[in-house]
Amino acid sequence: MEKYYLTTAIDYVNGKPHIGHAYEKILTDIIARHYSLRCDDVFFLTGTDEHGVKIQKTAAAQGITPKELCDINSQAFKDAWKALDVDYTKFIRTTDDYHEAVVQKIFKKLVEQGDIYKHEYEGLYCSGCECFLNPKDLTEDGLCPDHLKKPEVVSEVNYFFRLSKYKDAIIKHIKENPAFIVPAFRANEVLRQLEDIQDISVSRSKSNVSWGVDVLDDPEQVIYVWIDALSNYITAIGYDVDRQSDEFKKYWPVDVHVIGKDILKFHSIYWIGILMALGLPLPKHIFAHGWITIDESKMSKSLGNVISPTSVLESFNLENADAFRYYMATSAPCGRDGNYSDNDFKEKVNAHLANSMGNLLNRTLSMLVKYFDGEIKSEFTVNTDLKKLAVNTIGFVKTRFDNFEIAEAGQEIMALVDAANKYVTDNAPWTLAKEGKMAECGTVLRTVLEIMCMVSSLIYPFCPNIARSMSNQLGYNLSTRLDDIANLDYNILKAGKLIAKEEIKPVFLRLDSEFADKQAKKSEV
Ligand code: MSP
Repeated sequence: MEKYYLTTAIDYVNGKPHIGHAYEKILTDIIARHYSLRCDDVFFLTGTDEHGVKIQKTAAAQGITPKELCDINSQAFKDAWKALDVDYTKFIRTTDDYHEAVVQKIFKKLVEQGDIYKHEYEGLYCSGCECFLNPKDLTEDGLCPDHLKKPEVVSEVNYFFRLSKYKDAIIKHIKENPAFIVPAFRANEVLRQLEDIQDISVSRSKSNVSWGVDVLDDPEQVIYVWIDALSNYITAIGYDVDRQSDEFKKYWPVDVHVIGKDILKFHSIYWIGILMALGLPLPKHIFAHGWITIDESKMSKSLGNVISPTSVLESFNLENADAFRYYMATSAPCGRDGNYSDNDFKEKVNAHLANSMGNLLNRTLSMLVKYFDGEIKSEFTVNTDLKKLAVNTIGFVKTRFDNFEIAEAGQEIMALVDAANKYVTDNAPWTLAKEGKMAECGTVLRTVLEIMCMVSSLIYPFCPNIARSMSNQLGYNLSTRLDDIANLDYNILKAGKLIAKEEIKPVFLRLDSEFADKQAKKSEV
């Protein structure tokens, strides 16, 4: 594997980041960090989507210009990702000059080659979706099914993209590439949507939407948000219609677009049609994650249950985002909806990160100090059965990531931790020490510590701070490639002094309920 290029959806800046946005960025960061343990060159793109009627209206309501609103909220997204240790390579804003210029050229090229044409149109526009809706997709009351709002009747002269021309090729691609859309059950939904797909509007009249990228040579029209937004995936890495940068040549096609299920149609139909028209290779995977609910209800401003990710960290007095990252990433199986609840959060991270994983390391190191003055002696061996399980777990975790089964990868890691805990209980090193069976006692401890080195690598993408604290205490280099440690014949830990008593620290402190002030978390989003 030479490079791995992955992207998130770019978030609308008409509001502040909430934990739904955070879920996606955390998942993507975890995938990026996992592949950084498998290849040298990972490029992780995220950013903000800053044009369109929603942003124009929100800015007007706040009495500021759209650009001012974009600047404030785009920064709020960056700040949130920093707090969550979302370590992107590049952050693109669709108001960036280079992006706007290339979007205009892409549009012009598609007009010139006949893929975009001008047409008088009347349709039902949902500003929540920023798209025209098909009347047959509305609810019985004529509302947008996602936003439960009545779409506006809009009559305009618009530019249209000849999507129908690419329909058969898109269907063929989806059918011939079963791993293209993840999870696979979503591919059937997309194929159904493709059955009656029509050409799509790709511009709006300036009289209705002024906040957008101008169509070159037609000042009455602005480029409609989706063609502008989707192009970010190629403009960010230096695509231009007449010249492709070395970076673009290196990273495109993208390995995975990570997006929410609500925008799968735009990515697996519209974007694919645009790429086909531009003659560019197609993404390898589109991973549509599910949605996060709060206490089993849909997050919404009207219910007042919109939670900002940083307020979770603050209200639980968390030093870093590891626990929240772990909880979010393991909240739902691949592509399914997940849920956030304060109690569940507390219980899960206390059980998994503090009790199972943290305590195991802490008490094993403490026994090594107590019985052997912190030294691994050369006569201590490593239990082959447990080592084999750990080596196999690395293989399972890699496969899970290749299938974008992030929560399932977390379960594999915890299953290894549980097996190591059981090994300690079954072999009771404290009894072995009492009985004077010191070599056997040392073998149990060395085995567990060897496994904990592997666990620190595996858990690193989810919990980078905890992993660092674990690996520091183990004297283990966290940048070691997964393939190098997935080796039965190779012992990571060498004989010699490992740790002194005062260097042993808990890697994760249990969340204390007194810190949890539920109300404090309901922030204005
Ligand atoms: N701007 C478009 C995406 C353009 S991508 C070229 C957009 N923005 S958004 O701000 O509405 O959503 C950004 C991402 O957050 C989407 O992938 C969306 O699915 C995701 N989520 C928004 N709310 C969510 C939850 N409640 N739960 C999980 N993800 C959610 O769509």
